[in-house]
Amino acid sequence: MSDEPETTTSDFWKGLWKNGDIGWHRNEVNAFLIKYFDELTGGRSNLRFFVPLSGKSVDMLWLADKGHTVVGVELAKQANEDFFAENNLTFTVESVEMSAVSEPVEVYKCTEKKITIFCCDLFAMTENDVGGRFDAIWDRGSLSAIAPSFGDRGKRYTTKMHSLLASGGNYLLESCYYEVDRGMNPPASIPDEQINEMYEEHFTIKKLEVNKIQPNLDIKLSFALDMKHYLFKPKVN
Ligand SMILES: C[S@@+](CC[C@H](N)C(=O)[O-])C[C@H]1O[C@@H](n2cnc3c(N)ncnc32)[C@H](O)[C@@H]1O
Repeated sequence: MSDEPETTTSDFWKGLWKNGDIGWHRNEVNAFLIKYFDELTGGRSNLRFFVPLSGKSVDMLWLADKGHTVVGVELAKQANEDFFAENNLTFTVESVEMSAVSEPVEVYKCTEKKITIFCCDLFAMTENDVGGRFDAIWDRGSLSAIAPSFGDRGKRYTTKMHSLLASGGNYLLESCYYEVDRGMNPPASIPDEQINEMYEEHFTIKKLEVNKIQPNLDIKLSFALDMKHYLFKPKVN
């Protein structure tokens, strides 16, 4: 029997989706993605963007409308289907063989826009499965959802991100830090030292800004936190 926390299981996340317990979801495009967009793209067009643990984020739509190609990964089928339905988009579903897992996975392809979503575990994805490395990564609610403090998951995660990002690419992260003890429940509280430990082997780290967020029951936030944004660039190994 595995001693992995329940919050790392697909059943946990599928249960949240089934119960509509998705307090992280926003109907507006993320303000920090907009703010740091030029830094993230380096002014380049037609990039391949990766949105790990994509949920039904409208950021994917915004990026695609800017002319970029977007690839998400999201294990909950319901999230993927809601994304297309709520944005009045149509899709096809293909069953695709992956290099690292025995079962084929379902891949959702948007008909109208350049958006593809893999319905599988992020850790199952390799650069071969996704048509090569990405030019940019937008990570909001992904690192903080994978229980990075459990065992070596944090390092496994940053190694995975490094393996999926092109050498000249950029990676924008939103994460948070708070002092309440919430065990392995998402979002994880991640101090700067832990960011350094997880990322410094493979990336240079630029801390962009920190904002204090007060408890706000409208967004189901019952404790104060520091919301932090970082820009990472892959180190040349
Ligand atoms: C906190 S939500 C963030 C969603 C999105 N990034 C946003 O900003 O709205 C995390 C999402 O990741 C999905 N998820 C959790 N673990 C995953 C994994 N290992 N692989 C793929 N998806 C995962 C969950 O179903 C959930 O929709």
